[in-house]
Amino acid sequence: MMNRRFLIFITLAFVGALQIISLFADKELHLKEVYAGMFDMGAAIPAQLANSKEAKLLTDHFSVVTPENCMKPEPLHPSEKEYRFASADKFIDFAQKNNLKVNAHTLVWHIQTPEWFFKDGEQTASRELLLSRMKEHISHVCSHFAGKVATWDVVNEALDDKGEFLRKSKWKTILGEDYIYEAFLAAEKADPHAELYYNDYNIDLPEKREKAIKLIRLLKSKNVKLNGIGIQGHWTLDVSLKNIEDSIVAFHNEGLKVMITELDLDVVPRSFVTTDVGTKLTAPDLYPKECPPEILEKQAQVYSQLFALFRKHRDKISRVTFWGLHDGNSWLNKWPNPRTSHPLLWDRELNPKSAFFKVVGFTN
Ligand code: GLA
Repeated sequence: MMNRRFLIFITLAFVGALQIISLFADKELHLKEVYAGMFDMGAAIPAQLANSKEAKLLTDHFSVVTPENCMKPEPLHPSEKEYRFASADKFIDFAQKNNLKVNAHTLVWHIQTPEWFFKDGEQTASRELLLSRMKEHISHVCSHFAGKVATWDVVNEALDDKGEFLRKSKWKTILGEDYIYEAFLAAEKADPHAELYYNDYNIDLPEKREKAIKLIRLLKSKNVKLNGIGIQGHWTLDVSLKNIEDSIVAFHNEGLKVMITELDLDVVPRSFVTTDVGTKLTAPDLYPKECPPEILEKQAQVYSQLFALFRKHRDKISRVTFWGLHDGNSWLNKWPNPRTSHPLLWDRELNPKSAFFKVVGFTN
């Protein structure tokens, strides 16, 4: 009798345990929950997502969004007297309804900025004219979105890739070095509550890191508000973790929040280091049908190492943002030329890739 009861008890306990195990096994892991308490998880997305499946993927895994294009000067301010806010307003509305913080991007950049800024009739605009236009743009745009965006990438990609300190953009050529200071000042005035960031690519590399530090010190010496710096993170599988770590530590030591702002891991090796979207380059379309499993495994390993590094520096990193949501909507399908890219954590059917499981599972 005793034995029968014991047997029933054991069987029930076993079934119960199995149910609990399967409950946990079924529980989907979400990036933003797994990384809660370490840093925010973000994604850059188009003004409108393609469908509700994409929206669910986004809201399940991310708590911050960056607009890929709709808040850049070109779409927002196509001619001097005309602002077009409709698309960006919709984007903000979607973010608010879905409880997503907005990292607005970007006010001053050398690309996707209309030519009229730099012209006075047939002539090049004077310093005075361009400065007043830049300030007006920043003031109008920042005031329009004040209270609705948490943070601004104020200046994007101002550092030079070669020997100079600053890139020889029209901003720099016409306004001189302190245009960056003026931009931050105008942003602070127009939206005193937003955090203000500088954002650039290749600042994980030692030479450009030094220029970033020089810029940070210059801005700090003028007491302008600069809360953080974004390391873009358009990397390939051979990226140097040591360089990234050195930059995270160096920028933190300058008193800034550090963010990885445009993360993607291209599986196609590049013969170039720049990810300047304005540069003419080519990359082969190596995996037009599907990416070989061993390459996806290698990508998963690199993602895993990157996130181990980010976790190690969780006290310094405030956000990690992917540039795109899934392989199908990555900019790397178009840049530097049309091809089929595989750089993110979800594939074209929105299925999680091996990299996703390593990132959420903290595994190697
Ligand atoms: C740069 C810019 C982004 C975006 C990406 C790729 O890194 O900062 O706004 O254009 O390139 O699309």
